[in-house]
Amino acid sequence: MTADHATLDAIFAARHSCRAYLPKPVETVLIEQAVATAARAPSWCNAQPWQLLITSPDETARLGAALHTHAQTHAMQPDLPWPASYSGVYKSRRFDCGMQLYDAAGIPREDKPARAAQMLENFRFFGAPHMALITSPAELGAYGALDCGGFVTAFCAALGSLGLASIPQAAPAGHAPFLRDWFDLPQDRLILCAISFGHADSAAPLNRFRTPRAPLSEVIDWR
Ligand SMILES: Cc1cc2nc3c(=O)[nH]c(=O)nc-3n(C[C@H](O)[C@H](O)[C@H](O)COP(=O)(O)O)c2cc1C
Repeated sequence: MTADHATLDAIFAARHSCRAYLPKPVETVLIEQAVATAARAPSWCNAQPWQLLITSPDETARLGAALHTHAQTHAMQPDLPWPASYSGVYKSRRFDCGMQLYDAAGIPREDKPARAAQMLENFRFFGAPHMALITSPAELGAYGALDCGGFVTAFCAALGSLGLASIPQAAPAGHAPFLRDWFDLPQDRLILCAISFGHADSAAPLNRFRTPRAPLSEVIDWR
């Protein structure tokens, strides 16, 4: 292992989806550094389809309150269709990660109202001071989204290397028409996901669990 790989590995190992934040804002220069690093991500034809709309703490709170209310009375209408289904190993991984989350929150499996309330915290961005909404040109279709996925991972890792925490969230993008109106976004940009970020509240129970990963034997098919 090289020193560079050890550093990269440590950054990825430490990153996790953070669901409780301190109210402290992040300095603009740090956000710009993370975006500049993440923008080194590859993209087909170097199209760099990602665009970020980043909210200040005041705007995050204002939007969060409005979206939290909206989400309780409106069905989801994502720009990118939600996954058709999760079956087999994907179903069990999804179930396990949901159970880890609700266990950490101290919510029993049968307590549906508490689970729904916890889910709704997505729309308040888990109390993060900032939210980056990532969009991609509709004309690039799935490949624009693929490129943006690489950017999201790189952005979260870059934030982690700066001592910051983050969480990619599809849930807010489920209310694409609301967000499009709120930010006056054109129809020709797909709203892919939000990335809430800031300083982790490390003492919060919701931040205490870590998700496992499949062994390499389930990932690589050597030929
Ligand atoms: C594209 C994408 C969308 C996600 N959407 C949500 C979401 O809406 N709400 C949420 O709590 N977590 C969301 N997550 C976080 C995943 O649940 C998390 O990455 C996964 O369980 C692995 O855990 P880790 O990030 O802590 O390693 C999302 C992650 C990705 C990459």
